Amino acid sequence: MALHNTNPTATTAWNKLQQHFNEMQNASMKQMFQEDAQRTEKFHLQWNDFLVDYSKNIINQETIALLLQLAEEVNLQDAISKYFDGDLINKTENRAVLHTALRAPATAEVKVDGENVIPEIFEVKNKIKTFTNEIVNGDRKGFTGKTFTDVVNIGIGGSDLGPAMVVEALQFYKNHLNVHFVSNVDGDHVNEIIKKLNPETTLFVIVSKTFTTQETLTNSETIRKWFLSRDFGSKQEDVAKHFVAVSTNIKNVTEFGINPENVFPMWDWVGGRFSLWSAVGLSISLAVGYDNFDKLLKGANEMDEHFKTSSFDKNIPVVLALLSIWYNNFFGAESEALIPYTQYLQKLAPYLQQGIMESNGKSVDRDGNQVNYQTGTIIWGEPGTNSQHAFFQLIHQGTKLIPTDFIGFVKPLYGDNNHHDKLMSNFFAQTEALLNGKTEEQVNAEFTKMNFSTGQAEFLLPFKVFTGNKPTNTLLIEKLTPETLGSLVALYEHKIFVQGIIWNIFSYDQWGVELGKQLANSILSEINSGNINEHDSSTTFLLQHFLKK
Ligand code: F6P
Repeated sequence: MALHNTNPTATTAWNKLQQHFNEMQNASMKQMFQEDAQRTEKFHLQWNDFLVDYSKNIINQETIALLLQLAEEVNLQDAISKYFDGDLINKTENRAVLHTALRAPATAEVKVDGENVIPEIFEVKNKIKTFTNEIVNGDRKGFTGKTFTDVVNIGIGGSDLGPAMVVEALQFYKNHLNVHFVSNVDGDHVNEIIKKLNPETTLFVIVSKTFTTQETLTNSETIRKWFLSRDFGSKQEDVAKHFVAVSTNIKNVTEFGINPENVFPMWDWVGGRFSLWSAVGLSISLAVGYDNFDKLLKGANEMDEHFKTSSFDKNIPVVLALLSIWYNNFFGAESEALIPYTQYLQKLAPYLQQGIMESNGKSVDRDGNQVNYQTGTIIWGEPGTNSQHAFFQLIHQGTKLIPTDFIGFVKPLYGDNNHHDKLMSNFFAQTEALLNGKTEEQVNAEFTKMNFSTGQAEFLLPFKVFTGNKPTNTLLIEKLTPETLGSLVALYEHKIFVQGIIWNIFSYDQWGVELGKQLANSILSEINSGNINEHDSSTTFLLQHFLKK
């Protein structure tokens, strides 16, 4: 059954939100905090190891009530059921969207074309488990009988970003295997990686849902050539020992020389950017062990249950999605920042850039009409405190409104409280500063203390004032574990879903990346032949310059 297609701007809630925005656009959060001692009590959610404080937003109870009404009016509950039940909600590709099934328990039943897919998923999970144990324990060996020391994940987009982000995030839980990632078709990238490797002890995991992606195939071929180079004494049949693949395209994989037994299948109902829970996460399992990989899935499943069963006002992904819509569609905010206060999550923003922007970067609604409202937000971010010393100036005193998610942890992993207390005092200080700013009176009081002359003080005053009133969400999580990471990633996945439903767009296709790929292929033929076809004058000029090399 199809999703209900509702133009959000035609709902009663949207129109009321528009009027409500007129009243709220100049509202002072600081004043709202002063007037209501219960504000944080009202605007926070606690679930498992997560505390989500959304009280530092330009909202009141009416804002939340209207946003919740919007979710009702677009039939969000019905859409959630269809999402989890395997309806063909990715209509432009005629597919279900079932990454949630990958982390469901063995007792679950999720049907695709009338078939329960859970047993098949568990078959692949068992295969991942066995393979991981064999590699980690050293039972599987390379072509000279040595145990594996290094793993290289070759993939791009969803076949790279998710595993790379999680392997980085969970490095505290890692075993002895060194895991590397090759993604860019830039030959300098692959050469920098392979120069550090010993082919006798390196396992290559080629990850490509389609097994047609230019970058991944080119990198795989370069690596296979290097692996077979005479210096190492490896033979064609050794490829099967060192190369495994994750793909839906078994034919192309076997043609590459991979033993069909070493192919980890995936399914077309798993989108690339949501695939780290499938065999695409093989390098995660290899890096941290299967049990930790399974805990990651368990954490995601817990968030799935929370999302599926909680009323919207207590539902973390729903509330965060609605707040984001409030800023995107009413305040006109163009981007959102995501600042994790842990170095482990340094790849979270790049990972979510694909998840969020490939999913909701659409301008045609589910009826095929151009939308007349804003959709996908731009997402960016870096870990705190580094980002404070880089771009926070603009968030505090620039002209743009940038709603920001702060993600922090109560406990550090190495128990170093000296560092952690400093890190977290910055975490709390930043959201407080963004809320309250600094008034003229406060600045003047500082000037008096510092014995500034009147002239100096008058001149400097406007530069030292902070308006504050900058919205933030605080996600304070107990500890970074495989489970909490799984829940965190699933939270953002569901936020993407909710926003796509409200914006009435298809979140699970990505036609926008195709045009560039097609043009790159035809330009490559022109570069190879030296004959430049007809282009705009700029492209012709650039190609002519390039071909002079
Ligand atoms: O270019 C976009 C994309 O199709 C992504 O959605 C996907 O994650 C990536 O390419 C890689 O695709 P594949 O896994 O088929 O190589």
